[in-house]
Amino acid sequence: MQFQWYPGHMTKAKRQMQEDIKLIDLIIELIDARIPYSSRNPDIDELGKNKARLILMNKADLADEKTTKEWSAFFKEKGYYTASIDARNRGGMKAIQNVVLEACKEKTERDRKRGIKNRPVRAMVVGIPNVGKSTFINSFSGKACTKTGNKPGVTKGKQWIRLNKNVELLDTPGILWPKFEDQKVGLYLALIGSIKDEILNIDELATELIKFLLENYPGCIKERYHILEGENAVGVLTEIADKRNCRIRGNELDYTKAANLVIDEFRGGKLGRITLESPAAGQ
Ligand code: G4P
Repeated sequence: MQFQWYPGHMTKAKRQMQEDIKLIDLIIELIDARIPYSSRNPDIDELGKNKARLILMNKADLADEKTTKEWSAFFKEKGYYTASIDARNRGGMKAIQNVVLEACKEKTERDRKRGIKNRPVRAMVVGIPNVGKSTFINSFSGKACTKTGNKPGVTKGKQWIRLNKNVELLDTPGILWPKFEDQKVGLYLALIGSIKDEILNIDELATELIKFLLENYPGCIKERYHILEGENAVGVLTEIADKRNCRIRGNELDYTKAANLVIDEFRGGKLGRITLESPAAGQ
């Protein structure tokens, strides 16, 4: 699911999106609830001006509920409709249909005044790679599985999925590119698993995560690994390596193994529901 971005890809993706946006009333923007700032690309605001906007904070099952509520208030204040979801959970999709209708009510009202009745609202899903676009489209539309590639420009013929008499969804999502220029964005995208692990220094990544957890979620490491939480992230990683018996031949501690373990457990939600960015922190 990983994708290398080059300027050519971005231009292509942008052009594609401009074309698709002409066809729709509502942009359903998926972001990752654990990093609502870093998983967004503000270019969509420019691309989608004059369209109804809905931000879905996906993977909310892995995020801190309290911070998700704060983000929800933040986005509402900025004029977006918003909801938090677990895209794998089809049961929650009925509620999202209502939010979609709500987000389009101005458009529907305008149509009604012009005498246009029963014209379904047309929507498209956009988001950076790996944020859950395909999962959402499948759950929302009740389809078995359509795996859409993350390559911009590789689109099959456009199709509309008719959800009900009120809503139609474009079957291919728009792919947004992350904001790589910002180092912190890169770090957070890496932590949630959006950037290839092979190109990252896992030890460094784990140390940054531990540092963040010690500061923002005190007690979480202690509870998971049954170690004392020192102040030094490298020291904590050493303790984890020892406790979980991460060793290279014989007795030497294997930091990379311990780092991978911590990162995997974080990504899998085993360290608890954790959000890396909060609106209060000015993000
Ligand atoms: P994309 O189209 O935006 O690139 O994302 P995609 O739907 O392929 O989802 C990326 C990964 O995120 C998938 O996991 C998917 O199952 C997972 N996912 C999507 N939505 C949610 C959610 O709300 N909560 C959680 N916890 N996970 C979610 P994968 O391991 O890459 O694939 P798979 O093994 O699940 O098929």
